[in-house]
Amino acid sequence: MELPFAEPFKIKMVENIYKSTREQRLEWIKEASYNLFNLRSEQVYIDLLTDSGTGAMSDRQWAAIMTGDESYAGSSSYYNLKESIREITGFEYFLPTHQGRAAENVLFSVLVKEGDIVPGNSHFDTTKGHIEFRKAKAIDCTIESASDPTLWHPFKGNVDLVKLENVLRENPAEKISCIITTITNNTSGGQPVSMENIRETGKLAKKYGVKFILDSARFAENAYFIKLREDGYAGKSIREIAREMFSYADGMTMSSKKDAIVNMGGFIGFREEELFRKASTYNIIYEGFITYGGMSGRDMNALAEGLREGTELSYLESRINQVAYLGKKLKDNGIPVMEPFGGHAIFIDAKKFLPGISKEEFPAQTLAIELYIEGGIRGVEIGALMADRDPDTRQNRFPELELVRLAIPRRVYTNNHMDYVAAVVKNVYDRKVLGTRY
Ligand code: F0G
Repeated sequence: MELPFAEPFKIKMVENIYKSTREQRLEWIKEASYNLFNLRSEQVYIDLLTDSGTGAMSDRQWAAIMTGDESYAGSSSYYNLKESIREITGFEYFLPTHQGRAAENVLFSVLVKEGDIVPGNSHFDTTKGHIEFRKAKAIDCTIESASDPTLWHPFKGNVDLVKLENVLRENPAEKISCIITTITNNTSGGQPVSMENIRETGKLAKKYGVKFILDSARFAENAYFIKLREDGYAGKSIREIAREMFSYADGMTMSSKKDAIVNMGGFIGFREEELFRKASTYNIIYEGFITYGGMSGRDMNALAEGLREGTELSYLESRINQVAYLGKKLKDNGIPVMEPFGGHAIFIDAKKFLPGISKEEFPAQTLAIELYIEGGIRGVEIGALMADRDPDTRQNRFPELELVRLAIPRRVYTNNHMDYVAAVVKNVYDRKVLGTRY
């Protein structure tokens, strides 16, 4: 008999969570003005709002915290982190920042100016925010298949290279701040980008003389999917794949709160010294001196270790399998979920789940609230609310997809929790089919 898959860790410390009653939740969500972000965490039973900064650190990471060096300049923790980043990404230069959006802020202060355009694959909302704040424009060049939630494509996060080349051809290079590829593509469902796509994007960037940046929050999960799905990579290690992905880029921004399994932190990786030097000035103004940025020494130490653990195959197997476990349960119950399942989250198609609710009534937000009321689960709306108002017209932007994201924190919940989540979603689904409220 083939042995089933099990986690490559055991649990050393636990945190109790409270299972509230429906009556309490009805009261609390009303007090929160039906905004899930306004809830107190004690009012949530299973918190799937995000996989960002919510992971469980290992005993080795906690041990690394105890040996952190808090020197203002040149701390050993900085050099420890530098070594880990060089080993995992191949980037020689880096700047620590307090989280991913801070990395964007620092890097874009150098690269993005008013009137610029920044093509990429469904930029994350903070990325877009930093671009639009500078009165520049993010252009989404994700492949068409990404907007079909059920179409099976192994790399649904890919950039449409024809669309991208059109943008590059039609605009002068000075107007293009950089190309940004997000791996995995969070906004379009945690979908991976293929090595071939990253390589070809890198070639286009060179051909047109623009910089190519990887938004790398979930780079290890992306590498895992490449290993699984792309020809020629099955025999390569996650780290070899990661290094190859980064080898095609000029730099990277990183929210370390995801695949590096720390609760806070980020960095920017650079290939060239020149860009690193320019960004250093902004890092000092916005984040801190270049050898700590927005991070304490102990946190840099934990991050150095987290980068290594986050790129272990056995860990990634358990991680991606758990997400798929939930996805399969939901699918078997007839719930419309995005496929293939993403790396960090399962996305429920709210338009299909609640076809009677118009886009002006925010179907994904409605569903997210119902999941909370039913079982104390907190997911997040990825739809019209998150898309924000158009910066020029101030009108609602209605994206193609209305999704509820159930993001799974790393090394935090068991599959029993996933079973509970699936049952809650099913109850809401059955209730809506019957047309009943409580
Ligand atoms: N890029 C991507 C792809 C992200 O998913 C995030 C954060 C950021 C950048 C910004 O990083 O939060 O450290 O400042 N995503 C979180 C999420 C918030 O829930 O998906 P940050």
